[in-house]
Amino acid sequence: MSASVRTAVFPVAGRGSRFLPATKASPKEMLPIVDKPLIQYAVEESIEAGATKLVFVTGRSKRAIEDHFDTDAELEQSLTEVGKDDLLESIRGIVPSGVSCIYIRQGEPLGLGHAVLCARPAVGDEPFFVHLADDLIQGSPGCLAQMASEHRNHGGSVVATETVPKAHTSSYGIVEVDDADRLTAIVEKPQPEEAPSDRAVVGRYLLDARIFDKLETTGRGAGGEIQLTDAIADLLVESPVYAYSFSGRRFDCGSKLGYLQATVAYGLEHPTTGERFRAHLESLIRG
Ligand code: UTP
Repeated sequence: MSASVRTAVFPVAGRGSRFLPATKASPKEMLPIVDKPLIQYAVEESIEAGATKLVFVTGRSKRAIEDHFDTDAELEQSLTEVGKDDLLESIRGIVPSGVSCIYIRQGEPLGLGHAVLCARPAVGDEPFFVHLADDLIQGSPGCLAQMASEHRNHGGSVVATETVPKAHTSSYGIVEVDDADRLTAIVEKPQPEEAPSDRAVVGRYLLDARIFDKLETTGRGAGGEIQLTDAIADLLVESPVYAYSFSGRRFDCGSKLGYLQATVAYGLEHPTTGERFRAHLESLIRG
């Protein structure tokens, strides 16, 4: 049995160029799905999985993320005065007590692997989650909680995977596994004819802290960036890494289509707007 995972790392320093101009001055992680920004869904999923230390690796134009997780006494006061208790509740509970936030700057956007390495001083020697907020996963329990449970069973590192059409392998890290779902290889963005399988890594990782030593020596890979995939390829040689097919529905909110699909899926389930939104969509379909 392995111990619980207490630290979650959120690399949020990417430029979000697929979502320009919306992401020119504001972070893509602050894009809302109905009434909550993507990064808040990410934080809630990690807290559900047991994280109490949240490490944000930030970059240029990302101040709004820090502001979002700060207490806003003035706003709380004015909501109290006008008796808007539901809204007050919605902002008060964003970071529960006992959970701390740490912000680290990634000076240059040198890639996801580099962003994770920047978190090293705040993570230390324990296993930790990496959560990419633009991969929104609708599921209960959340994807990280499912992965934490896997980790408790067999230790090692765990990467969340999903089957993708073979034609799409060049957009993902693709894994090869043995009968026990232990990785034997991982390749970043292979062309379909070179892909070892159609099982793609999505934006959830539970990593052994030895990954940091691997990242220290990982050179620039695909796209000239320091790739987390390349460091995982080094790690799996000496420490087990498991692929985990999560239960839930993933939306790639870094792409316009995925973002719109997520908005519809979460809008339909929203407690106050879901019913009317469904009626509206049905009327659109009827024409
Ligand atoms: P993406 O590949 O989605 O890149 O990064 P991006 O810059 O965010 O978006 P596009 O492709 O330009 O539209 C995957 C994750 O890694 C983080 C991003 O914030 C995102 O969560 N990242 C990427 C960093 O934190 N630093 C980097 O240098 C690169």
